Amino acid sequence: MDSFGRKIDYLRISITDRCNERCLYCMPEGYKGWEQTRDHLTADEIIRVVHVAADLGFRKFRLTGGEPLVRGDILEIVRAMKQISGVEVIGLSTNATRLEKLAQPLRNAGVTAVNVSLDALDPVIYKRVTGGEVHQVIAGIRVAVAAGFERVKLNCVLMRGVNEQEIWPLVLFAAEHGLPLRLIELMPLTRTDVLTEKNFYPVGEAMKLLQQRDELIPQPDAKIGHGPAKYYSLKQTGALVGFIGALTNLHFCEGCNKMRLTSDGKIRPCLGDHGEVDLRTALRETTDAERLREIFLSALRSKPLEHQFRENYQPTRPMTAIGG
Ligand code: 5AD
Ligand code: SF4
Repeated sequence: MDSFGRKIDYLRISITDRCNERCLYCMPEGYKGWEQTRDHLTADEIIRVVHVAADLGFRKFRLTGGEPLVRGDILEIVRAMKQISGVEVIGLSTNATRLEKLAQPLRNAGVTAVNVSLDALDPVIYKRVTGGEVHQVIAGIRVAVAAGFERVKLNCVLMRGVNEQEIWPLVLFAAEHGLPLRLIELMPLTRTDVLTEKNFYPVGEAMKLLQQRDELIPQPDAKIGHGPAKYYSLKQTGALVGFIGALTNLHFCEGCNKMRLTSDGKIRPCLGDHGEVDLRTALRETTDAERLREIFLSALRSKPLEHQFRENYQPTRPMTAIGG
């Protein structure tokens, strides 16, 4: 429990700040903040953290990046996590460019659920947002669906004038493949020229857009993963769409259940708050699990009530260096 009575049992672990794409909303142009390899936690260190967290009652874990699949030891990390008592869910957030080859090995290693970033289906728009090739992503999604994960979800970050015309095609794609689609408000975690009022597209507007084409039926009890989305099903298309109103939903943080671990070993109690607690130094100085546990608990106690995104938040770490 944190200081506000919320049950925190979800740890998102960034295993690298590197990525083979360059999404507008995640990575500042010319991002030079690449950490040295020695700055990253090793597989062994990550596993030690998972042990401590699982002992404290964390049950859901997610591997993110950067792009987690650029890390060569990802399968080893998943296999070791799976052995740890208390670890119930191992999610993965990925851009899916390498999923075609890796989906089945990841499933076999123990990944239970996969979230794929898909901000556009149109190859030109996709490239404009991410720098990458959408056909690789589609191939990755197909293999992931066949690989037997408990759940595969799609994420789309909304940006006015960039991908708004892709929202409806994405809804149809999601319905066709039976995958929940989450529409996410742009959070101030990248370079400032992308984060203008002009680019911001509220989820309320996306909801109106969908209402013009279909009937939205609230699914308040939808238990689709462990995130903050509010889900609706679309009567005719059959799509299941989640809205993540990180900025416009003033109650967004009330149900927060997570903390983050950055790839350089800092516990980040809240995505939208600069506070961090260093765990790496202790990981490298001691094998005393009790000390790690204390640090973890102090981070939990410092978890703020809500994010600072509405307070002219200036990102000192971009999303790629925190972990989405
Ligand atoms: N705002 C909102 N969502 C973001 N993501 C990454 N950066 C941002 C941002 N600035 C989302 C992407 C990715 C997930 C891990 O985080 O949709 O799929
Ligand atoms: Fe890479 Fe994901 Fe960030 Fe895009 S959002 S740059 S795919 S880590």
